[in-house]
Formats: sequence, structure tokens, C-alpha cells
Amino acid sequence: MAAQIIDGKAIAAKFREKIAEDVAALRKETGVTPHLAAVLVGDDPASAVYVRNKQRACEKAGIQSTLHRLPGMTSQEELLTLVGRLNEDSGVHGILVQLPLPDQIDEKAVLDAVLPMKDVDCFHPENVGRLMQGRPRFLPCTPCGIQQLLLETGVEISGAHCVILGRSEIVGKPMAAMLMQKAPGANATVTVCHSRTRDLESIARTADILVAAIGVPRFVKASMVRPGAVVIDVGINRVDGKLVGDVDFDAVREVASAITPVPGGVGPMTIAMLLRNTVTAATLSATKTGDTSR
Ligand code: GUN
Repeated sequence: MAAQIIDGKAIAAKFREKIAEDVAALRKETGVTPHLAAVLVGDDPASAVYVRNKQRACEKAGIQSTLHRLPGMTSQEELLTLVGRLNEDSGVHGILVQLPLPDQIDEKAVLDAVLPMKDVDCFHPENVGRLMQGRPRFLPCTPCGIQQLLLETGVEISGAHCVILGRSEIVGKPMAAMLMQKAPGANATVTVCHSRTRDLESIARTADILVAAIGVPRFVKASMVRPGAVVIDVGINRVDGKLVGDVDFDAVREVASAITPVPGGVGPMTIAMLLRNTVTAATLSATKTGDTSR
């Protein structure tokens, strides 16, 4: 039986509606309009599209967005100066530095410089540490979007074996941290596979939920998926001018019980969660609360 297609676009639209309501309520109660500052260095066309999509989504939800475009030759010092200025600007609630950055810039140094209270990507070590300890301030956008997709689809996460393919700082590691928490929407048994994993195919086949985030087009074949598993495709690869994920979609949909498409699966949820984090940042700033321990 062919899998249910998880419609990330429709689910994200629902989240964005709720976020727009929260923005309106915050403005009414405090006079504060959430403001996201996006920083784009260089002219990578894919990054420019991602940032434009994020900005458009902000505007639709009533969130102010400002784009800071810097040339590809920008030095680390210049970028750090801009980040410092945005940190100090009390009218800016969230700061997003689009990755990847050019080679001359130390990515970690820049991400570490973003004020943790404005770190809507949840990349700062303080926020990653909080996430790990189960008391998040912000939730990382892509993993959080995936968790919400699973919940909206009615997938049982508690007790499930989640196999994550990929150990990136943006997806693999925070996804593992979230799903293993003793918390609602989590409580999974998590295995993280990567380029050095022995017999990855056998491990993948034990997954109830398989998250593919390795950046290799159509890497996950039907033979790597247990019949009835839920498959989440985080990949965005351009092949012959077409966007394809990390999953061999046409074959795997015949085996899985549910699957996300590319495009229209995880991507729109990442953006929705970024908006949500920006509203959280503005709310924290408006109410002067720095701790959202749950
Ligand atoms: N590049 C690819 N994904 C992301 C993301 O989630 N945030 C940022 N800042 N850059 C990215």
C-alpha cells in the first residue's frame, strides 16, 4: 500500500496562522512587533532563495524582517561588528545568520557571537546545552518542525525507534537530543548513523521513524526501510535542475506508511518554527523573562 504523503505545506500554513494570531496578541498587549534581522553574506543563489522565503513568511505573519546583505569578501571582523550592532539594537528580537558562510569566516565564532536571547536558530552553545538538558529556550527550527509533523500526523513517538541518518549541528544532533528527551512528543529510542556507521542499511531497517539528513540525493532506498515505517526526508538537493530529497521517494513510498515529499515536506515547517522562535524572542524581550524552563 502506498504511503500517506505528509503535507508539510498545509501543516505549516496552519502553524503560521496561529503564529500570526500570537503576533497580533503580543502587539495588542505590549505594543511590541516581533522583528527578525536576517544576515546574508555573499550571493549563493540557494541561500538567497531561503532567506527571501523566510522574509516573506515573516511579513505574512505580521513579523517585521530586515535583510542585511554583505558581499562575499566580507571579513570576519566586519560580520562580527554587524552581529554586535544587532545584539545591541533593542528593536531587533531575533538574529539569523544564513549558513553556509564564506571560507574566510569562522562560522562558530559568528554563531557564538549572537546573543543567546536573540538566537532564533538555536545554534548558540547556551541554547544547545539547554535543549540537551530538557529546558529549552528556543527549539531548533528543522528538528522542531519534524517533531510537529510527526505529532500532527498522529505518529507515536514515545517508545519508537528513531534512526537519524546524519550528525550535523543543524539537524542530526539536535534532532537526536529532542527525540530522546523525557518529554511529551519525545521519549524515543534514538540511533544516529553517519558516514562511518557500519552496516547502516540494517540499522535503518530497524527504524519505526527514519529521518534522512545526510545531503546525498536519493540515498535511502526501499531496501533500507522497514515496511510500515515513517520516513522523514530533510534533504534538499538539486539534480538536473530538479529538487530531490535524500530519499528515493517513488520507491520508498511503496514501503513506508507515511513519508514527507521534497519540496513541500520539512522545508515549510522549518520556516514556521523560525517564525515561532522569533515571537518567543520578542515575548521574552517584552516581558523581560530570560528563562522559559519547562
Ligand atoms: N542553512 C541551511 N539551513 C539553515 C538554517 O536552518 N539556519 C540558518 N541560519 N542557515 C541555514
